[in-house]
Amino acid sequence: MAKKILILNGSPKKDGNTSVMVDWFCQGAKSKGADIEVVRTAVLKYKATGCISCRLCQTSEKYECCIKDEATPVLAKMADVDVIVFATPLYFFGASAQLKLIFDRFFSLYKWDNDAGTMQTPLKGKTLVVLASAFEDIGLDALEKPFALTAEYTGMKFESILVANAGTSGEIAKKRPDAREKIISLGMKIAI
Ligand SMILES: Cc1cc2nc3c(=O)[nH]c(=O)nc-3n(C[C@H](O)[C@H](O)[C@H](O)COP(=O)(O)O)c2cc1C
Repeated sequence: MAKKILILNGSPKKDGNTSVMVDWFCQGAKSKGADIEVVRTAVLKYKATGCISCRLCQTSEKYECCIKDEATPVLAKMADVDVIVFATPLYFFGASAQLKLIFDRFFSLYKWDNDAGTMQTPLKGKTLVVLASAFEDIGLDALEKPFALTAEYTGMKFESILVANAGTSGEIAKKRPDAREKIISLGMKIAI
């Protein structure tokens, strides 16, 4: 059956390097019949500046964020798909704020029982992918770490492609043409 893939593009640049990486990934995944949705997190309308730690999600039976805004259907989709791709430029050695804003609301997709020391989540068994680029060759490992640890903590499979020396927005195809095949291949692999 076709894999369902949700891609969160966290760059504010519509036609920037992140979008090029996302296009390459989609090219590979689509060739294997994947069902793909791409969301540009920079243009979502939010009612709060990220997770506000209200913890109402922990008192609800459902896996849902209690802030109702344009992130709501995206979070619901995260619980439904097979693969979640976080695509982002490197901003001061981390992911973009535009991606982090929605990533923290991942919190609503977990239920913790602190007394029992247990955690349940519909994310377990899914695949988490990071696609990231940077102008220089310092810090992409730091960006990757929180996503890799989240995947490990959650029981998700993890894949990443980090493209250093990708230039400024829109230059990746010229500066790092070698990344294209790698990203298309990952898209194909993930979709099967
Ligand atoms: C606010 C900001 C912070 C950045 N921080 C870094 C950085 O710490 N290291 C780096 O190598 N590149 C940095 N860059 C460059 C971008 O990561 C790089 O050009 C990226 O490929 C742009 O992707 P985009 O076109 O999708 O936005 C920064 C760019 C901006 C606008």
